[in-house]
Amino acid sequence: MDFRKTVATKVSEATGLDLETVNKLVEIPPQDDMGDFAFPCFTLAKTMHKAPNMIASDLASDERLSDPCFSRIEAKGPYLNFFVDRGEFARAILSEVKTKGTTYGQSSEGEGKTVIVEYSSPNIAKPFHVGHAFTTVIGHSLARIYEKLGYKVVRMNHLGDYGTQFGKLITAYRLWGDEAALNNDPIKELLRIYVKFHEEEKNDPSLTTSARENFKRLEDGCEEEVALWQKFRDMSLVVFNQLYDRMGVKFDNYNGESYYAKMADEVVAMLKEKNLLVESEGAQVVDLEEFGVPPCIILKSDGTTIYGTRDLAAILYRDENYHFDKNIYVVGIPQALHFKQVFSTLKKAGYACADKCEHVGFGLVKFQNMKFSTRDGNIVLLEELLDESVAKTYELIKANAETRNSDMSDEQLREIAEKVGLGAVIYTYVKAGRERDIVFSWDQMLDFEGDTAPYLIYTYARTRSILRKAADQGILPAEAGSEVLNKLTGDEEFACAKMIAEFPEAIRKAAGSNEPFMISRAVSQIARAYNRFYNNCSILSGEDEELKRARLALCECVCNAIEAGTYLLGISVVEQM
Ligand code: ARG
Repeated sequence: MDFRKTVATKVSEATGLDLETVNKLVEIPPQDDMGDFAFPCFTLAKTMHKAPNMIASDLASDERLSDPCFSRIEAKGPYLNFFVDRGEFARAILSEVKTKGTTYGQSSEGEGKTVIVEYSSPNIAKPFHVGHAFTTVIGHSLARIYEKLGYKVVRMNHLGDYGTQFGKLITAYRLWGDEAALNNDPIKELLRIYVKFHEEEKNDPSLTTSARENFKRLEDGCEEEVALWQKFRDMSLVVFNQLYDRMGVKFDNYNGESYYAKMADEVVAMLKEKNLLVESEGAQVVDLEEFGVPPCIILKSDGTTIYGTRDLAAILYRDENYHFDKNIYVVGIPQALHFKQVFSTLKKAGYACADKCEHVGFGLVKFQNMKFSTRDGNIVLLEELLDESVAKTYELIKANAETRNSDMSDEQLREIAEKVGLGAVIYTYVKAGRERDIVFSWDQMLDFEGDTAPYLIYTYARTRSILRKAADQGILPAEAGSEVLNKLTGDEEFACAKMIAEFPEAIRKAAGSNEPFMISRAVSQIARAYNRFYNNCSILSGEDEELKRARLALCECVCNAIEAGTYLLGISVVEQM
């Protein structure tokens, strides 16, 4: 049973305020003596023509609010405070989690609706750096969050595989390309010749001409140029896919800019037909003054299309093929204006789907006291960050295993290090609101007691080991619905149950604001509450066998919630550590 919902339903019935509004207003008070749920009465003041304090005190004695799941209801100033019956609460929530397992928090509110999540979208022939990892991690998580809520999710990777730079690459490859080097490390070789091209171009204008001609031939579909471009694209994707596989990231569609470039003519024709194209300094643009943004360029003065034109084509393609209810772009904040221009252009052209598009921005990635061997300018490769994190994690858990005389094999340790090391990186991307800049620091991200993935995974692993130990002693967790669960009335037990109960709401909030951070916060609060419980109550000692079984059920539910939560973030747990 969802106690928050009971609070909301009762208040809605007693006040006539609609359920959804009440649900949004119900909060968890900052202090225990203010109850477990609170309803602020300010909103009612207008309609009831009474002071919020008065409303609260009248409602406190309103019979319509009483329910066996509340031990008492009190007014405190403008707030109506609900105190739940702890035993009933623990039994209700743990029974639900035990029954649902890791599907806990799943709902069907998105059923029949399609969400497109576009994320990652790296540029081919370019290194996959830590900024691409930001969109990859956030997008991957959002896709799982929407799925959990029952939406049909389409994961799209809008590859940067088009543009004049491919003309340059073709020219450069023909002049200086090294086939063996390309096969060995494609991105490195492509980057090398690209950089060389720019150096040589300064003294040799014929290179510029050649690149332009090659791009034109590529656009016109000339066989040899297309073949080279295809090779660069395929080889880049092999590299990207290795990273995606490692992180468990998947896509349904890899249509890149080149795919939409072919449809750009239709966009131009449509805008022309609607009389929306105006000339500006030789270029064709859509004026967006009424939206308060600069004009959106559609055709450059040389008649070629640009990045934005391809994004317009992509939205029309998505609308036609997926009939999306939401189309989300997980792309860095610096592109906010670009998306505003693209969406406004579609709106001006009368497309209803424009309002269903949303740019989900994120901040910058910074490093504190971290050195990387191949660090080139400001670029840090994701692969390097992951490798370092895994290597450092390995040392930590190996040392720990040695002090504990653990019998884990080296292979097991490496497997665990891979998951925990990756988790540490992923968690750093989602541990705060996505628009904030993030700072990587080994000390922080690998702190087994901090707000980190290692802390969450360690909590999970240790709890699993308690459950195994109990099973060996023949003590099994209490079953769903068991009266035994009513014994969990201690402060720590109650706090833990409360945090678990908040998880489904955190998922809804995460989807509502496109913030995986809502999930990381909820999971870390569960783990914190659990660790307080663990430190204060000895789970397997004592005389009360029923209490032991109830506490084991709590352990089990904490594990389910952590596993479900970390999954939504793209982090894997381990059974032992
Ligand atoms: N490839 C671009 C980059 O690396 C990001 C693409 C964003 N998506 C889009 N639909 N424009 O900056």
